[in-house]
Amino acid sequence: MKTDKITPVQTPLTTNKHLIRWVEKMADLCQPAGIHWIDGSEAENDWLCQKLVDGGTFTRLNEELWPGCFYARSAPNDVARVEDRTFICSLSKDNAGPTNNWQDPFVMRRKLKQIFKGSMRGRTMYVLPFSMGPIGSPMSQIGVQLTDSAYAVVNMRIMARIGKAVFAEIDKDVKRVVPCLHSVGAPLAPGQQDVPWPCNDEKYIVHFPETREIWSYGSGYGGNALLGKKCFALRIASNIARDEGWMAEHMLIVGVESPTHEKTYVAAAFPSACGKTNFAMMIPPAGFEGWKVWTVGDDIAWIKPDATGQLRAINPEAGFFGVAPGTSAKTNPNAMATLAKNTIFTNVALTPEGGVWWEGMTDTPPALCLDWRGETWTPEIGKITGRPAAHPNGRFTAPASQCPTMDEAWEAPDGVPISAFIFGGRRPTTMPLVYQAFNWSSGVYIGATMGSETTAAAGGALGKVRRDPMAMLPFCGYHMGDYFRHWLRMQRDLTATPRVFHVNWFRKDAEGKFLWPGYSENMRVLKWIVDRVRGRALGKETPIGWTPHFDDINWKGLEFPRATFETLQTVDRAQWKQEVMGHEELFLALHDHLPAEMIYERELLICRL
Ligand code: OXD
Ligand code: MN
Repeated sequence: MKTDKITPVQTPLTTNKHLIRWVEKMADLCQPAGIHWIDGSEAENDWLCQKLVDGGTFTRLNEELWPGCFYARSAPNDVARVEDRTFICSLSKDNAGPTNNWQDPFVMRRKLKQIFKGSMRGRTMYVLPFSMGPIGSPMSQIGVQLTDSAYAVVNMRIMARIGKAVFAEIDKDVKRVVPCLHSVGAPLAPGQQDVPWPCNDEKYIVHFPETREIWSYGSGYGGNALLGKKCFALRIASNIARDEGWMAEHMLIVGVESPTHEKTYVAAAFPSACGKTNFAMMIPPAGFEGWKVWTVGDDIAWIKPDATGQLRAINPEAGFFGVAPGTSAKTNPNAMATLAKNTIFTNVALTPEGGVWWEGMTDTPPALCLDWRGETWTPEIGKITGRPAAHPNGRFTAPASQCPTMDEAWEAPDGVPISAFIFGGRRPTTMPLVYQAFNWSSGVYIGATMGSETTAAAGGALGKVRRDPMAMLPFCGYHMGDYFRHWLRMQRDLTATPRVFHVNWFRKDAEGKFLWPGYSENMRVLKWIVDRVRGRALGKETPIGWTPHFDDINWKGLEFPRATFETLQTVDRAQWKQEVMGHEELFLALHDHLPAEMIYERELLICRL
């Protein structure tokens, strides 16, 4: 290493020679002005946040109203994950499959070396060690992110376990470390003034599954820049999980406690921005006295069979990177309590008193604020321009430990036992409120053929139904057909097979109005699911699976018309025939890796219809 080129802020906090050598090599490539080894301390975090304030990236919010909170605005061209710039560079194109962008790893590596060359000039390179999952848990995995973004560091500090304790884990040399290189791709010439949100028009979010590496360039935004989350905990981890016989899923985890203190844990996969955080923090409605929903995680689950054949899950994250718009004291009081302090807000609106606001937070918008672009916004301006004050993908980054409903076992090293999987998407038609799969393989089919209207969490058109198998379309790091096979095979190691359900909170009537009130009322559906798992609820057999009768649901505390429920639960054969055609389209794309079970399940479904 040409140490004369950089001024280390600290000496290495690890004794691991491979890690030190890699840091030196990457510093040589990226040419940062200095290296800072992240110890994870409070003092260091304060210093970084102040640096972000001084540089204009952060605004410190009103300490009385929002203690310990900061506000950031991204560049307008860096507001969401960039799926078309996300690459899976497996050795063979076939292993990435048709649902991923593939590039030859050798070609891509050459390209990356070019674009990362000098990419950190004028900036500090932070060496950020992180543990996905509780430090020391047998289910946890370790990564080190090299980044020139202090914003990424302070967000990662909330989202993962970071710092000295992780270096100590690395020094034990028992776990493989996933190297993650991240640059915003905005080198600074000597004397050049920095901008509040440096990034590059050209973005590359690249994964090398065989060598378990992540290279991310050009974006400072969450999913592209907090590499422990989607890049590691889903795309790379799904590869590790397949090889090692476990599952890395885009799922929330909750524990449902009954009035007799019986606890049932379920994991649920909904696509991005479809209410996973709300469901994970649900407060049961009137009529459910004594019931509690406990939060284990809101986005990612790592699930493994234990020695007895019971599936157990951990939440690999330590925080919530939640969608702000729509979050309110009415829709999700637990999220509001969680984000009340020590939270980073990105791309929402800034109020004159140093607070934040977003659409749906309160019924009455503030009379005046600065929108997510930094422009003056009033309700009048909003009406005329049609522009929201907060970006639809505006986010909060908040520590999970602040959530009032965190489950007592949320950091249990061996995870929590999973009894059911729930799949769901945004479906204005076709999909009933809830149904249960006949068995594991029909459940895998239901997850595999899941569809949902697109949302703002990824760039691109909104409101189109796209197939999003297990909500993993943007996150499965290998061939989707092989992923289905992995799901089918998982059952072989289990002594208790989780029950599988599909839900849809978003069915609409002919006038386009939602048929189901959602939010807390989803508890009624969740209770039926728990009761089915426990073998004490009835159901009705339909062509697609088991559904509840009206009287199988607890309606206490809600006047819900029987007729509306029947409409919600309708299995319309004409719509379902269309639906099955959509499944066929997906299967054609995956055909040479598609497990036979998927074809048989589809045939059975067609016969039943
Ligand atoms: C997320 C996403 O940020 O799915 O969780 O986009
Ligand atoms: Mn997600």
